[in-house]
Amino acid sequence: MAGPYQLFKKAAFKIDPETVHNLTIEGLHYFPGLAKQVFHFVGKQHSEILFNNRFALETKMGPWPFPIGLAAGLDKDAKCVDFFTSLPFGAVEVGTLTWRPQPGNPRPRLFRLEAEESLLNRMGFNNAGAEAALRQLQNLKIAQKHGKPVGANIGKNKDTPLDKAPFDYQNLYRLLAPHVDYLTINVSSPNTPNLRQLESSEGLKHILDALVDVRRQCPCPLYIKLSPDLPPSELEGVIGLAMEHRIAGLVATNTTIMRERGEGGISGKLLANKSFEMRRQILERLKGVQGLELIAVGGISSVSDLWHLWKQGGRVAQVYTAFIYHGPKLLYDFAIHLDFLLQAFHFKTLEDLLRNIEQLPPETPALPTLS
Ligand SMILES: Cc1cc2nc3c(=O)[nH]c(=O)nc-3n(C[C@H](O)[C@H](O)[C@H](O)COP(=O)(O)O)c2cc1C
Repeated sequence: MAGPYQLFKKAAFKIDPETVHNLTIEGLHYFPGLAKQVFHFVGKQHSEILFNNRFALETKMGPWPFPIGLAAGLDKDAKCVDFFTSLPFGAVEVGTLTWRPQPGNPRPRLFRLEAEESLLNRMGFNNAGAEAALRQLQNLKIAQKHGKPVGANIGKNKDTPLDKAPFDYQNLYRLLAPHVDYLTINVSSPNTPNLRQLESSEGLKHILDALVDVRRQCPCPLYIKLSPDLPPSELEGVIGLAMEHRIAGLVATNTTIMRERGEGGISGKLLANKSFEMRRQILERLKGVQGLELIAVGGISSVSDLWHLWKQGGRVAQVYTAFIYHGPKLLYDFAIHLDFLLQAFHFKTLEDLLRNIEQLPPETPALPTLS
């Protein structure tokens, strides 16, 4: 029988993707209780599995009760934190937020590539600005975060010249750091002209230098989100800089450019290999490095993807596109499979499993199918 998200999707996928997105965000913003009732009812049969802490993983931004978080871009203006943290996500990242509100690129700018379970977007940081998001975050009662870390992803305004970009990041850090559990510097969106120039060690250095004082005044775990198209020759410099500036970790990756698919960034299954390769290179370089962690994002849709990440030394991941295609059931499927793995290998917690990951098989044992 189709679940509520499958029914919703059947109708929603007949409508323009951005219109559906906006209507859904408004619905979840004004009626989070109703949405929670529907999806928690679906999750109820798994509540034993989901709502104990065997899945918890410690990160620099605090414990993630579940290893899968929500990636930036879905709840840009932080309007649905109550709803998204009520799902079994381990953490939720809002944004990208810019210092001033901006409309983003002309529509249409979001497209489904259904056969490939992928999306193409050229949104261009459309958002109501950091102050509007701050009001949302300040209105949240502690219980409305459901004990989850909530981070904000920050980017420069389209009309801020590159040499002034460090001031945008500085202002954003100063405003938001006291109110979130972590911040992510976004220098990797393909949809803001020249933004990716800031991903070079030189560009990043200007930003990180501009943040030294504000970070001292108000420490907050700081991450840098990278593109899968960053040349490997740049990676060494970026990691060196991240260590020098005591960055909490790297978020890899953002969307990729595939010109043959149209202008914008590709996410989902079409991105998976590129993103996976980028993470492999990063984790290879992070071996033996203390302090820098990785948040994996890009084409992740199953426990098998997570398993590969763990085998390489990663711990937590985020999803966006797979969540659009599968809805909250994606999280329940992760939970059931992870629970099976804990039982199959006789571990009490995910921390225990990860400590022993090297001794475990190279591929995830599949979930037995019910006959
Ligand atoms: C419609 C859309 C909007 C996005 N907006 C942002 C954004 O504002 N900031 C950001 O850092 N990433 C943004 N992303 C990228 C996602 O956070 C994620 O890095 C990327 O989609 C790869 O993950 P996925 O394959 O699970 O979707 C966006 C992705 C999509 C599909």
